[in-house]
Amino acid sequence: MNVSEIIRTKRDVREFSSQPVSKEDKLAILEAARMAGSGLNSQHWRFILIEDKSELEALARLSTTGEWVAGANFAVIILTEKNRPYHALDAGRALTNMQLEAWNRGIASCIYTGFREAEMRKRYGIPEKYSIDVVVGFGYPARKIVGKKNRKPLEEIAYSNKFGQPLNIK
Ligand SMILES: Cc1cc2nc3c(=O)[nH]c(=O)nc-3n(C[C@H](O)[C@H](O)[C@H](O)COP(=O)(O)O)c2cc1C
Repeated sequence: MNVSEIIRTKRDVREFSSQPVSKEDKLAILEAARMAGSGLNSQHWRFILIEDKSELEALARLSTTGEWVAGANFAVIILTEKNRPYHALDAGRALTNMQLEAWNRGIASCIYTGFREAEMRKRYGIPEKYSIDVVVGFGYPARKIVGKKNRKPLEEIAYSNKFGQPLNIK
């Protein structure tokens, strides 16, 4: 797939098959995160890899909006230094790289942002300096992905020159 195809076809998937993801693929996904740009090239993200079934189940128990992660093949907790004003943007760039790299390899993923923060910090030893931005679960999709993305028309979200002014691309 080329980049356009990956962007256009990628869906967020919450149900995974039991097919294992190779070490090589996991490494490539983490490397894709490492290749992301960050403000001032500060590279302040940190990534915690969770692979064991029992650990994925424990991660799910600490979640409020991502219980499906129990069925993932592996998950990554993405952290950034919270005093950096652009830290969420940096987390998002690393996350997107990972999800697109995975999709290119036939591996699906989804993210969640709801979790019991204090318990997460304790279990994974996460210092206060770091924000727990997002958890992303990966695996081969449980079934063939059907249906189109549900997205607003471009005219509704993109303007020319001024907020609300109709898009008029030259
Ligand atoms: C900032 C953000 C937060 C999200 N939080 C959750 C979440 O807590 N739990 C969850 O299951 N999905 C979460 N999602 C996934 C979205 O529901 C998903 O990206 C959206 O439905 C589009 O899916 P699609 O690309 O397959 O159409 C989140 C996505 C984003 C971008």
